[in-house]
Amino acid sequence: MLSTLAATAVLFSSLSLVNGQTFTDCNPTAKTCPADEGYGKGNTIFTDFTKGASTNWEIAAGTTLTYGTSGAEFNIKASTDAPTVSSDKYIMFGQVDVFLKASPGTGIVSSFILESDDLDEIDWEWLGSTDNSVESNFFGKGNTTTYDRAIYHNVATPIETWHNYSITWTAAYTKWYIDGTLMRTLNYGDALALNGKNYPQTPMRIKMGSWVGCASAAAAADAATKGTCEWAGGPATFGTTTWTMLVANVTINDFGCGGKYTYTDMTGSWQSIKSSGTCAGSSDSGSSVTSSAATTSTSGAVLAQTAAGNSTTMSTATASGSTTKTTGSSSSTTSAPSQVTTSDGNPTAKSKYGVIDVAVIALGLGLGYLVM
Ligand SMILES: *[C@@H]1O[C@H](CO)[C@@H](O)[C@H](O)[C@H]1NC(C)=O
Ligand SMILES: *[C@@H]1O[C@H](CO)[C@@H](O)[C@H](O)[C@H]1NC(C)=O
Ligand SMILES: *[C@@H]1O[C@H](CO)[C@@H](O)[C@H](O)[C@H]1NC(C)=O
Ligand SMILES: *[C@@H]1O[C@H](CO)[C@@H](O)[C@H](O)[C@H]1NC(C)=O
Repeated sequence: MLSTLAATAVLFSSLSLVNGQTFTDCNPTAKTCPADEGYGKGNTIFTDFTKGASTNWEIAAGTTLTYGTSGAEFNIKASTDAPTVSSDKYIMFGQVDVFLKASPGTGIVSSFILESDDLDEIDWEWLGSTDNSVESNFFGKGNTTTYDRAIYHNVATPIETWHNYSITWTAAYTKWYIDGTLMRTLNYGDALALNGKNYPQTPMRIKMGSWVGCASAAAAADAATKGTCEWAGGPATFGTTTWTMLVANVTINDFGCGGKYTYTDMTGSWQSIKSSGTCAGSSDSGSSVTSSAATTSTSGAVLAQTAAGNSTTMSTATASGSTTKTTGSSSSTTSAPSQVTTSDGNPTAKSKYGVIDVAVIALGLGLGYLVM
């Protein structure tokens, strides 16, 4: 899959540049890559987009965000638009909350995801054709062999109404919340996560953006894009309307110790990730992310858990609630991972796609996500 993606990237590099997507083939499970700079525990990164641009986010080439009283505006006016931003640093387990209004528009997709250099991924996605649901999903190591992980959740008018979409990600579990209500739990050892093997477990950046899931009637008829079009609800229309996803604010909490997150081997396991940081307000040494990364904040306390999900130790809370604005200096040396996009919601259609088709879809649309 990696070689296919790399080859396809060469073929489509100009297109992906046009569409403003970054691309790298540096997958730490295949080669040595630069370490990922982490925020570190105790540094809440809060971005209030109603105040305008933020240095907490790297704007993808080709992306122009506008800012209004509602926050950041991700605008799509043409089929080639795919406004995308990425957090400037990584989390090694953590919690991320976003207040977002999904873009309207049949064929338009809004995405808020966590993604790692080796293509572990945790998603929220909204379809502009559907104003009563949101999809949760995840990927392990870019594995798109099957498409049975997406779940749709009811949510009231996500296009018109602010909701607090939250992901709490630990070594033991991933939990998706809407407005404080738990919608989904994925445990490390779940069969859906291949008993841990495909559980997302490597340092993640936060990415958000909107994109065109179905560009035209021709795309809906093309075997290569038909499935994605069906998932997206049909062809988008352009020329009369600007389709806008709104993000009011984002809160990022890294549960890891920050510094550099390094893949110490090519397993891509969470145990292999080491942190060079020192955990503020914690007795953790910070020399390894292993002890700290599996912690999650539970009503003011930190509950350390095994990967299997059992609580083992209690320690005092470290989340100070202090707000930190990062400098925005692009000190992170790891660029966005290679990504692939494919269709969703239609296992029959999806199963027809080979890796090459999937990569072509991804790069042809200029997308930066694994999508279903
Ligand atoms: C990818 O996922 C499929 C289906 O869940 C699984 O059978 C396969 O072993 C996975 N491949 C890898 C490399 O993990
Ligand atoms: C958003 O939801 C998360 C998860 O329930 C919660 O921890 C957080 O406090 C909420 N944010 C706000 C501003 O209510
Ligand atoms: C984040 O945005 C939502 C929606 O506008 C708002 O209700 C909430 O107060 C904001 N949070 C903060 C801390 O400003
Ligand atoms: C979790 O705790 C239960 C109850 O003590 C125990 O039966 C189970 O074996 C534990 N699981 C793991 C993975 O430690």
